[in-house]
Amino acid sequence: MAQYADEFIDRLHLVWGPGFLSPGGPEEVAEVCRGLNLDDANVLDIGCGTGGPSIALARDKGARVLGIDIEPQLLDRARMLADQAGVADRIEFRQVKPGPLAFDDNSFDVVFSKDALIHIPDKQALYADIRRVLKPGGALAASDWLAGEDADDDDAFQHYLSLVPLDYTMATAGQTAEVMRQAGFELVETRDRNAWYAELAPLEVARIEGPLREKIIEVSDAETYEKWLAIRRALAAAAQSGGLRPTHLRGYNPAGT
Ligand SMILES: C[S@@+](CC[C@H](N)C(=O)[O-])C[C@H]1O[C@@H](n2cnc3c(N)ncnc32)[C@H](O)[C@@H]1O
Repeated sequence: MAQYADEFIDRLHLVWGPGFLSPGGPEEVAEVCRGLNLDDANVLDIGCGTGGPSIALARDKGARVLGIDIEPQLLDRARMLADQAGVADRIEFRQVKPGPLAFDDNSFDVVFSKDALIHIPDKQALYADIRRVLKPGGALAASDWLAGEDADDDDAFQHYLSLVPLDYTMATAGQTAEVMRQAGFELVETRDRNAWYAELAPLEVARIEGPLREKIIEVSDAETYEKWLAIRRALAAAAQSGGLRPTHLRGYNPAGT
């Protein structure tokens, strides 16, 4: 069953902007890719959703993007938005099945992902596969929802997890860096974005409670709104407690491979 039904997409777009199922918009995409030259680079966007990040990569950075996702209704929206943004000729959106990446070795200059790797449970297989499809010297530039080191004992974080209906598998930054190194990445770096999101998340809650309330009820219904508001409050509390840690990930496939 689809995790991102049409009305859920509409709610997320109201909060995070058209094409975005994660926070921060094009500025955050640029921040994830900081220091990388993406002009004409072949970029794979894993879990591209409704296309906002892929569009930003093509439009703002000049990348050629292959966006992959497992849910077809998201890709339909992504294609429409890419068309509207005038970058449809630089982006292909393709439906894939969960599991190994169906691409040859050494296919991409950059593998990008924004807040989607959380859905993929086998992190060892995932990072090994990402490195395999990267060209020698190619980069992984991603952001993901990670857990704090003390997340098991963090009541706010555990409360958030108990409410959220999505299939999340979250690791800590230390565990993620270790798995990336084991997969063969070098120059592995994790950049914690908790401070940024701990400030932003309560502002999002205030918009959901205020100016967006009626619009959200219009695209869903009053009961869904109340349940979602509770989840969004729990998300903000988990960010503020430090249990939930949005994090940027960077690693390079060694040049000699
Ligand atoms: C939180 S959304 C983020 C979407 C987009 N990256 C963004 O930032 O707006 C996570 C996305 O990952 C996708 N996803 C989940 N499991 C996946 C898998 N195994 N392969 C590719 N995409 C997957 C979901 O369908 C969803 O679109």
